[in-house]
Amino acid sequence: MKVLMLNGSPRKEGCTYTALIQIAGVLEKNGIESEIFQAGTPELENVRAAAEKMKEADALIVGSPVYWASPSGQIIEFMDKFCSLAGKDMLLKPAAAIASARRAGTTATLDVLLKYFSFHQMPIVSSNYWNMVHGNTPDEVLQDKEGIQIMHVLGKNMAWLLHCLEAGKNAGISKPESEEKVKTNFIR
Ligand SMILES: Cc1cc2nc3c(=O)[nH]c(=O)nc-3n(C[C@H](O)[C@H](O)[C@H](O)COP(=O)(O)O)c2cc1C
Repeated sequence: MKVLMLNGSPRKEGCTYTALIQIAGVLEKNGIESEIFQAGTPELENVRAAAEKMKEADALIVGSPVYWASPSGQIIEFMDKFCSLAGKDMLLKPAAAIASARRAGTTATLDVLLKYFSFHQMPIVSSNYWNMVHGNTPDEVLQDKEGIQIMHVLGKNMAWLLHCLEAGKNAGISKPESEEKVKTNFIR
């Protein structure tokens, strides 16, 4: 099983990456592969490459730095395009969002990111606090002991859910039947 992680920071190995790598380590210990994809550049070719990877992925984790108390503009643009291309491959797969900030705007950032998941019927994986780390540098993030624990617990919870889904599939539990979407556009 494999988890695709999107790093929504233009800083390739910054704070968001430092948080994601913590989750990757726990997933690996629990027999789950993962890949951190650099999503800090929202050009269409890059989004297409990530969308290809979503076809094979069993789960999705999206990480973003907090910019002006919101997700980075880069990850918003990336996710807007990603959902158009990969939406069908996101359906019913577990997902989580994480935020990295110096100080504030983390929960607003998470709220925005989670909406991409709930639209696609993705079970949302949580931790023992809202999924955030604090710091301006990777070293500061590593000093945020609570944030690091949140990432570890999130990794364990994600691995547990993926194993449960696999066990359910092997026991013959199939995905819910999809329904044709009703769109009323608030007219009738
Ligand atoms: C344009 C910009 C806006 C930012 N806005 C906020 C903010 O509103 N709140 C906050 O706590 N940190 C803010 N920060 C700091 C980053 O969120 C923080 O350093 C984050 O951990 C960086 O993650 P990264 O290294 O993965 O890019 C901002 C940084 C930048 C570059």
